[in-house]
Amino acid sequence: MRSLISILDFSVEELDKLISTAKDIIVHPENYVEKCRHKKLATLFFEPSTRTRLSFEAAMLELGGDVLGFSDSNSSSAAKGESMADTAAVLSCYADIMAIRHPREGAPYVASNNATIPVINAGDGGHNHPTQTLADILTISREMGRLNDLTVGLCGDLKYGRTVHSLIEAMARYTGVKFVLISPEELKVPGFIRFNVLERYGIPYQEVSSLEDAMPKLDVLYMTRIQRERFDCAETYERLKDSYILDTAKMSQAKEKMCVLHPLPRVNEISVAVDSDPRAAYFRQVLNGKYMRMALILMLLEEAQRDPIRRGVDTSGYLRDRVCTNPKCICQVEQELPQLAKLTDPEANIYRCIYCESKV
Ligand code: NCD
Repeated sequence: MRSLISILDFSVEELDKLISTAKDIIVHPENYVEKCRHKKLATLFFEPSTRTRLSFEAAMLELGGDVLGFSDSNSSSAAKGESMADTAAVLSCYADIMAIRHPREGAPYVASNNATIPVINAGDGGHNHPTQTLADILTISREMGRLNDLTVGLCGDLKYGRTVHSLIEAMARYTGVKFVLISPEELKVPGFIRFNVLERYGIPYQEVSSLEDAMPKLDVLYMTRIQRERFDCAETYERLKDSYILDTAKMSQAKEKMCVLHPLPRVNEISVAVDSDPRAAYFRQVLNGKYMRMALILMLLEEAQRDPIRRGVDTSGYLRDRVCTNPKCICQVEQELPQLAKLTDPEANIYRCIYCESKV
């Protein structure tokens, strides 16, 4: 049985396969309307969402399946103190597959170790958001005709923006991709992306603060919202919130053939006047998200049918004496979880928490 917790759980071949299934769904939707008949998707949303939850629900309904779940953690037993592990075990009795969004980093991973059905990470804190990446890569593929040989600019909150982390992890594995990381000093990409992905695989990247200067070289511009809810200090958010605003003047500096993506919701970072520019792909990206989630549900259910056994985590190579200090990690609130750290950089002897990937 497989789950999707990090986009690194899928190989490039598997990502390409999902893209081709999604493209087939777009052309022949009638072939898919019965594919998940009598199957149920549970959506467990412990954090606000419009697109992701409804997109999962629409995807399952278009496959002929059913959905159940909640979108407010206060209405679930988590409010009574139930652990993620128990919630996952219980939901496995009601549904065939589940999608979880949680403010705690690593929560869907914990669920996947205790569920007997596939688990999909629909966003965990400021960590990862692999299904948004599926929407993003289908959009890039459809808009640009390729996923190789692209200069990808990511702009805004690269520290807390979980969609940014998963997108870098995915795109870094396509050949000829370069990144321009555009952010204020305080919101640069975190270590688990910088060291585990960009440095480790020698991916070309630049870190800059000016969107104007970066504009002319980009094939893809990925704008993001400054993630207010992840800031510890309200003043810092207020100071940084309007760091970048993409407007028609900046668009006039961009290549004629490029595309602008945004995971949405936007707050102020893209002026509404840009919406009518043919390069603005963010609403098409929303629709692509539904097709990719359809392809994902199909793939995970097929895999679960072929191989229904959940593989336990092999913890033999992990250290148990390092303590995770990330206040947003699931291990801070669920006392039963063992502290486990894996060696991610043997040369520098760096260990990271297995739940949230913070350095320990
Ligand atoms: C993103 C998220 O939740 O991380 N939204 C989404 O899923 N489409 C981006 C955001 O909230 O800024």
